[in-house]
Order: sequence, then structure tokens, then C-alpha cells
Amino acid sequence: MAVAKKAVTFSKEQALELLSCYGSPLYVYDKEVLLRSIENISAAVTYPNRSFHFAAVTNGNLAILKIFQSVGWGLHANTPGDVFLGLHAGFNPANIVYSGSNLTDAEIVKMLEWSVGTFNLDSIAQVEAFCEVLAKSRVKSPPKLGLRISLPNITRGSRIGVRIEEFAEAIKIADSVGLKVTGIHFYRGTGTNATEAFTRVIGELLDACSLLPDWEFLDFGGGFGYNYRTNRLTFDWSEFGHFLTTKLSKFNKPIQLLIEPGRAVVAGCGTLLVTVVSVKWRDGKQVVGVDSTVSNLSVISVHGGYREILSFSEDQELYQTDVCGNTTFSRDYLGRDMPLSRVKKGDILAIIDSGAYGFAMSSHFLHRVRPAEILLENGSSRLIREREDYNTLLQKQSLE
Ligand SMILES: Cc1ncc(COP(=O)(O)O)c(C=O)c1O
Repeated sequence: MAVAKKAVTFSKEQALELLSCYGSPLYVYDKEVLLRSIENISAAVTYPNRSFHFAAVTNGNLAILKIFQSVGWGLHANTPGDVFLGLHAGFNPANIVYSGSNLTDAEIVKMLEWSVGTFNLDSIAQVEAFCEVLAKSRVKSPPKLGLRISLPNITRGSRIGVRIEEFAEAIKIADSVGLKVTGIHFYRGTGTNATEAFTRVIGELLDACSLLPDWEFLDFGGGFGYNYRTNRLTFDWSEFGHFLTTKLSKFNKPIQLLIEPGRAVVAGCGTLLVTVVSVKWRDGKQVVGVDSTVSNLSVISVHGGYREILSFSEDQELYQTDVCGNTTFSRDYLGRDMPLSRVKKGDILAIIDSGAYGFAMSSHFLHRVRPAEILLENGSSRLIREREDYNTLLQKQSLE
């Protein structure tokens, strides 16, 4: 199947206007693109008793979270910070599912106060801590309790999860505070594009779930791949949805299905616009310096990811190019050995598919401040996070 070439979802004129209005570099999110992606994924899983929970780890901007909330998705929280943001975006805490690792007792107290609806815990020690805190709390209706499952055959070497042989212990601990373990959470692995990697393991997973006497829900996690490169394997949501629906429908009790997509749903709606500040040629290669850095978008260089970089040029001639950040950090590359038209100072580049793990993973490393974020909706743009200035670097510091 031919895969369409990637393109920026807005025009050069729009990009110029946005940068002149909000400055550069700039994270731009396109609401229409996001809504389409939500719709496609939602429609692909027809299992009647299912809900989607957006993984806020990928993008914690309140305006983005609000979009998910307004279409009826719940939230997946990896941390209490994710919950905090989700509550501010208006999610009903009953629709917030926590599946994370290593909460302190104080954090469990907080999350119970926030009335988080579901806790998927990843070790016996966390089940113990949770039940102890719950027993001391004044919570009237306790949350649902699930276990993040570790299936060593499938998730080889993962530090996370409770093994089948530990189920009995978890059940006993929960029972001591009058709670039942009703859920299994499963995470296949990060950024997996091969649909078969998911469908192949569903049988073994469901067998394991059936060993839980009070099993009521399956949280199938995230980890679903996104096609950052054209002509590569694409995760097939319809095939996955069909397979899972067929398997779950065979149970003689209605199992609730939860799905927590992160990058798969949100990556495509985001673009980081940057401006070229210098160009030099080295042995036939174009070396482009831009006004952003790997600390604004770290996945590429620090984590070995790939994001396509497009110029708005119509020039068909392409040159081998490195796109470099505005520091001397040895890994400050936003793109390496990639084809790009000849560019010059002042040109704009679009680093596409940056909606997931983009701003969310940005940092103050190198002491470059973070870009602004804007949302395109109904033909206009709106600032959804202000650009930082140097004062941000002073915040919470003290010379005394
Ligand atoms: C439990 C869980 N669910 C969902 C996600 C989202 O993952 P992805 O963006 O790969 O879909 C994560 C990522 O950390 C996770 O840990």
C-alpha cells in the first residue's frame, strides 16, 4: 500500500503569521487533526463495554487534555502530577485510571483524596502500601483495584508488574481491608507498530486474567505505535480492535475494557516550528542551525527517536542535512543525515508529529527556555501556554 507523503497541516503563510504573532520556536497543535485521530481510534474498537483514557504522560497541556475530556475520554495517569493536571482540565476523577509505579504513602493519600477511580498497582509492596493507607483513610467508596501484570514470556526483562504467582498474595492483602482485586493492566511495550505483537499475546494475557477470581476489567495500556516515518509498518487499530473484541466477547461475563493510548492518538496533531539562524556546508552536507534545541524536543537526539522535518520550500532538490540546535551540546541535533531543500537564515522548518513526548519531555537543560504552545481551532489560533523567559530559570532558587 502506498503511504501518503507527510505534510504540515497548515500553510507557509499561516506558519509565518503564527511565528510573527507568538515568536519562534513554537509548538502548534491542530485541534481538527487531533479530533480526527480520536475519532479513528475510538471507531476502531467496537467492543461495547470499553472506554478510552488518554495517557497524559505524552502531553499535559490543559487545552489538549480538555479536548479529550470533552469528547468523553477518560484519563490515564502515570503519576500524581498527571492526575493533578487531569482534574484541572475537568476530568471526573471516576474516569481517571492510575497505572504507574512506586507511589509514596503520602502520594497514595493525595490520590485517594482526589477520588481517583482506578488504581493499577505494579508490585506487592505497592498493594500493601495502598491497602494500609486506604484502611487508615476515611474514604467511603474505595477505588477499583487492578494489578499491572508481568508476563515474563512477553514483557521480557521489564521491572514493572506483578507475576501470576503473586496474585494470591495480592488478593489476600486486599481482602484484609475488604477490597477485591478486579482488574488486570497490561502494557505491551513502547511505540510498537507491529499489530501482531499485540494480537499474538492476547490469548496468553486473557488466560492469565481468568486466573483472577474476581476479574472484571482489562486495561490494555498504551504502547501503540505511531508512524513517524513514511513507508514503515503502521499499527492497525481496526485489526487490533476486531481481534480484542472477538476474544473478549467470548467470556460469559461482561468484561470492561480500558485502553490508554498516548503517542498513537496525539503525536500527529503537534508541530514544532523553528527558524533557521545559520547555514554552513561541510563536505557536501548542509548543516542548519535553528533557534531551538534538544531540550525543547528531546526524543530525537537523547532517546534515539525520529521526527520528520519539513521546509515549506517548493524546491525539489534535496541535500543531505543535519538540523542542529542552538547549543554546543554534542547531541544537540533535531535531525541528522536527512534530506532537506537548500535553506537560508530566516526560513522556517516544521518538525512534525511532535504532539507526544514533545513539550512534555522538554527541560531546562542547557538553560534554554521552553517555547510557547498554541492551538489551532475553528480557523484561528489561541495561546495555550506562554513562552518562558529567563526569569523562569531563577524560579524557586535562592542565594540566601
Ligand atoms: C501504563 C501506561 N499506559 C500508557 C502509556 C502511554 O504510552 P504510549 O504513548 O506509548 O501509548 C504509558 C507510557 O508511559 C504507560 O506507562
